[in-house]
Amino acid sequence: MSIATSTFFISLLHLFYLLPTISSQIDHLLSYSGNQGQWHLLQSSIGISAMHMQLLHTNKVIMFDRTDFGASNISLPGGQCRHDPNDTTLQLDCTAHSVLYDIGTNTFRPLTVETDPWCSSGSVLPDGTLVQTGGYNDGDRAVRTFSPCNDDSCDWHEEPNYLLTRRWYATNQILPDGRVIIVGGRRQFNYEFYPRGSSSSTVWLELLRQTIDVEDENNLYPFLHLLPDGNLFIFANTKSILFSYKQNAVVREFPGIADKEPRNYPSTGSSVLLPLDENRPFLEAEIVICGGAPRGSRELAANGSFVDALGTCGRIKVNEANPNWVMEDMPIPRAMGDMLILPNGDVLILNGVGLGTAGWELGRDPVTTPVIYRPSEFPERRFKVMAESKRPRLYHSSAVLVTDGRVLVGGSNPAYVL
Ligand SMILES: *[C@@H]1O[C@H](CO)[C@@H](O)[C@H](O)[C@H]1NC(C)=O
Ligand SMILES: *[C@@H]1O[C@H](CO)[C@@H](O)[C@H](O)[C@H]1NC(C)=O
Ligand SMILES: *[C@@H]1O[C@H](CO)[C@@H](O)[C@H](O)[C@H]1NC(C)=O
Repeated sequence: MSIATSTFFISLLHLFYLLPTISSQIDHLLSYSGNQGQWHLLQSSIGISAMHMQLLHTNKVIMFDRTDFGASNISLPGGQCRHDPNDTTLQLDCTAHSVLYDIGTNTFRPLTVETDPWCSSGSVLPDGTLVQTGGYNDGDRAVRTFSPCNDDSCDWHEEPNYLLTRRWYATNQILPDGRVIIVGGRRQFNYEFYPRGSSSSTVWLELLRQTIDVEDENNLYPFLHLLPDGNLFIFANTKSILFSYKQNAVVREFPGIADKEPRNYPSTGSSVLLPLDENRPFLEAEIVICGGAPRGSRELAANGSFVDALGTCGRIKVNEANPNWVMEDMPIPRAMGDMLILPNGDVLILNGVGLGTAGWELGRDPVTTPVIYRPSEFPERRFKVMAESKRPRLYHSSAVLVTDGRVLVGGSNPAYVL
């Protein structure tokens, strides 16, 4: 889940890269002015699976996986080892679970992350520092920071007990004042801020309690977007609100998404705030949410029955007096997709599955064909199907736009077995 902006104008080449199978490979992609683009494998192994990725201002991408999954295929720097008697898999671990990838030189080096960042969440501060919060086990209250540098001296700094509560599958958003709001997480119907300042308790968020499905949850990793009016758009399951974090107040409630199907983990669709047109007198904010899995999919998948992913996108103009969801059909149904805004304002939808749901080995039928969504085209001309990748990217995969307009793709863990 990363939203990157680029200062580059669109050029003829748009490349995807990839990191595959427990996937420690790197691949690349496409050019799409009039064609379908292309994929290129960048690295056959970076030693870890890129479950999470974030572009940094040094033209490097930080990547990391969970720490409790056994040994990776890259050693910790300087012959270090991590001794963790509570680790469920490997108590003495001399391998790294994070790397820093240099886009310009196509090289990488291992980093040291000790607290488990599995299904954590992050934001980049105005000074370029990545703040990654929460995770699992010994990482569920951790705050980890990574301040990029121009040599090889920088590494993670970790504060294991910084958060006010545990956060697993929460969502973060950078705010105009430089703070980060951290919303939700498993069994957390509340939010908090980084830095935490003088606050000693979290703030209740009723939307998260209202939207939890008894069996499947379907409201984890809520979608969060900061809007031009300074409020937050928050979407969980099928419901969404305009929320003032300054006053801790729901400003308005939007209608439920029209097909009434859930969109958040483990249903796991994806969402973007479309680029704002600053030439207009009034900044019109529009949200698009695509894909996911129908209600009940997780329990069915756990019983061996993998149902079709959702084939729809919902689009809403949140500033309108009476906003409504307009539904559109994607050419390919998809759960666990990633949506990225490209430098020309188009949206790329990639990765994921056509059957089943997010969660450990609950997805089937990998969707290896990305599609482009062109928001300002006539409705029947909005979608364009792109070149197929050879590498499935399912649960725990990631994609990020990089500074030259290519898209870097990695991860998928556990490995998809053909
Ligand atoms: C390490 O390499 C082995 C052998 O190629 C592979 O099976 C395994 O999935 C790799 N693990 C990671 C974390 O990349
Ligand atoms: C291991 O877990 C126990 C119980 O949660 C905790 O008290 C202890 O500090 C942990 N040890 C380490 C080295 O993290
Ligand atoms: C899944 O299997 C369990 C055990 O057989 C059963 O009780 C449950 O109803 C099944 N759920 C679905 C959605 O089929």
